[in-house]
Amino acid sequence: MNDTAAAAGAPSGSAGAAASASGMPGAPGGANRGNPFESLVDFFDAARRTALHDRLVSACYAPIAPAPPGPHLDVGCGAGVLVARSIAAGRTAVGTDLSLGMCRRARLLEPRASFAVAAFEHLPFATGAFVGLTAMLVLHLADGKRAMAEAARVLRPGGVVSLVTQSTAWTEATARALVDQLGVEGTEREFYIGSARSGEANRRYAPEELTAELALHGFRDAVIRPECAGGLLIARATRR
Ligand SMILES: C[S@@+](CC[C@H](N)C(=O)[O-])C[C@H]1O[C@@H](n2cnc3c(N)ncnc32)[C@H](O)[C@@H]1O
Repeated sequence: MNDTAAAAGAPSGSAGAAASASGMPGAPGGANRGNPFESLVDFFDAARRTALHDRLVSACYAPIAPAPPGPHLDVGCGAGVLVARSIAAGRTAVGTDLSLGMCRRARLLEPRASFAVAAFEHLPFATGAFVGLTAMLVLHLADGKRAMAEAARVLRPGGVVSLVTQSTAWTEATARALVDQLGVEGTEREFYIGSARSGEANRRYAPEELTAELALHGFRDAVIRPECAGGLLIARATRR
């Protein structure tokens, strides 16, 4: 996974600075070339309307909901659903994504939030800028160590990280078994089988590996919960 946003001069500074930036901060021009998600904006916008996605969004958002007052960050925001949750709860919220198209679509969904094109591995925010950080179905696409280091850096002590990521059990076969078992059809079915198939080269975590990585990167009290027949992991942890 490349660092396109950082290379293209995504802004540095606090969450407030990002929120006040005009237009779409981040990578202009061809900086998104090569990001396969650039052509999947409509697909993810459709997937966000499905029941399973909605359930995962709720599970991902829940750990950061009770965080003390302060801004939320959603990394790999896609079509913007998690950012919209934070805004609906009265938070200041920022979404980042490697894809400019995704950021634009997310801004249509929630114009009160701010968005920046940025890689998980290089977040353009000050140390300790956020009280809650979500990353749903993106950690497995990134350089996990650099992404976790950045999550820890931008969260203030006591801040909460909440992740949904693929586990070592998420293969095309297990995804198919799951959607068959649940009777899932249409876009939702395509989404889950497709993500398993396309992700077979991605980094996937066993629960104990994810716990260890979080501890290594400055988080305590990790709680990992399997979802979708163990194919996905929902993880929460607190910044030391
Ligand atoms: C599977 S989609 C998930 C979108 C959204 N979080 C959701 O669950 O609906 C992954 C998203 O992460 C973005 N992405 C991929 N690699 C990334 C990285 N290294 N840093 C930031 N975003 C990334 C993609 O552009 C895409 O929008």
